[in-house]
Amino acid sequence: MASSRRDLAVRASVDQGLLSPAEPVVALLDTAGIRASAAALTSAFAAVTDAPVLHAFAVKACPLVPVLRLLHEAGLGAEVASPGELALARAAGIPAARTVLDSPAKTPDELRQALALGIAVNADNLQELARLDVLVAAAPTASPLGIRVNPQIGAGSIGALSTATATSKFGVALRDEGARKALVQACLERPWLTRLHTHTGSQGVPLALMAEGVGEAYALAEEINHAAGRRQIDTLDIGGGLPVDFHSDEEGPRYAEYARLLADTVPGLFDGRYGLVTEFGRSLLAKHGTVLARVEYTKTSGGRPIAVTHAGVQVATRTVYAPEAWPLRVLAYDSGGRPRTGDVTVQDVAGPACFAGDLLATGRELPLLHPGDVVAVPDTGAYYFAHPYAYNSLPRPGVHGFTVTEKDGGGGDSGAGDGAGGHGGGAGDGDGGSDGDGIVTFTTVREPQTLAEIVAESGGAHADALVR
Ligand SMILES: Cc1ncc(COP(=O)(O)O)c(C=O)c1O
Repeated sequence: MASSRRDLAVRASVDQGLLSPAEPVVALLDTAGIRASAAALTSAFAAVTDAPVLHAFAVKACPLVPVLRLLHEAGLGAEVASPGELALARAAGIPAARTVLDSPAKTPDELRQALALGIAVNADNLQELARLDVLVAAAPTASPLGIRVNPQIGAGSIGALSTATATSKFGVALRDEGARKALVQACLERPWLTRLHTHTGSQGVPLALMAEGVGEAYALAEEINHAAGRRQIDTLDIGGGLPVDFHSDEEGPRYAEYARLLADTVPGLFDGRYGLVTEFGRSLLAKHGTVLARVEYTKTSGGRPIAVTHAGVQVATRTVYAPEAWPLRVLAYDSGGRPRTGDVTVQDVAGPACFAGDLLATGRELPLLHPGDVVAVPDTGAYYFAHPYAYNSLPRPGVHGFTVTEKDGGGGDSGAGDGAGGHGGGAGDGDGGSDGDGIVTFTTVREPQTLAEIVAESGGAHADALVR
């Protein structure tokens, strides 16, 4: 998220009453930023190949229907990995022909439905191919069908997100004894099997390792096609995994860099003989989401200042349980939503949940926070607030998209530039508020969860179930 737009949005959230004592935690999505990332992805691949490319957004990264609709309008499809994610993609209007189903545990019914809809399916293993045999024989399908391979080329820095290790649970483990031969044979026996899929991992995997994994899938496709004497494998699904920079407002490696690296390391991938599917998630959304939370109390414990906020494990689950692997920045604002000034002090930033580890940051240098201040947690647009965790029955916070328009009405979102933030006056007034250098307009993406919904989702309708 461009920091200038973020500053404007924080200020406007306070001015327009989006963030308030009654609604002490909200999440924001920068619409212009998401559009810019989608455009960067599309143009990066268009610059290196004329082959057809389906950029299927990994729905798991941000499973929110309005986000999927926005990406659909920007020309992207969807990669789904569960019936729930498929339902979201369909609710967003993403056509079957632009949807890809991957998951290691698809049931026969899921497979049947996908084939009936004509959604591309990547089988995970040879047992799943046997299920597909039955379904393909039973009814014609428009679904392109593929199989996931694990090139077993090693891990990135985060083990839990490394999917190409020797013992990863995903795909056919190509280097296991006899596996490659069996897979080639399985393809030759199934003329309808026309795709290979690989995904080396997510955050923490170096680009070179990602490209190596794609190279392995490409080499296997060439081997199968040679053995078949025809171009049986016509599409390569190269997964997602581009990492993002959680330490600054830099976006991290760019799509163009990765596309050029692929062109260099896998000559032939882009020469037009193969259609391509990508499945990026985090790199499209992470930088465009920010959690805002009010500081409820401040205290010291053992001499360490602690700010107790309303954002913790319910919106930043990975960071709270694995802080070394998932550090997040915390930005300090005053109660009016202006960047906080004042002496930088080492302090902890805690969440509202009732366990000691519910900390967003430990020993972090920040201007000393005060009750009523606002903390912003940037880079949380993927795998964070869209994945709420119900500890302490904390409600899912509302999610709001925002756009910034020039004050003089001069058209559209202010650019992605990172100029000085506007912190001037101007109270908001309903739908759009005038804040500093721009007018910030919010739109609801997800309503905050109500207490009645929490009760309903917690067996409220079955209160007597265990005492009857
Ligand atoms: C099969 C597959 N494709 C794509 C992705 C998206 O990865 P990222 O969000 O790192 O781009 C994942 C993430 O787990 C995945 O498992």
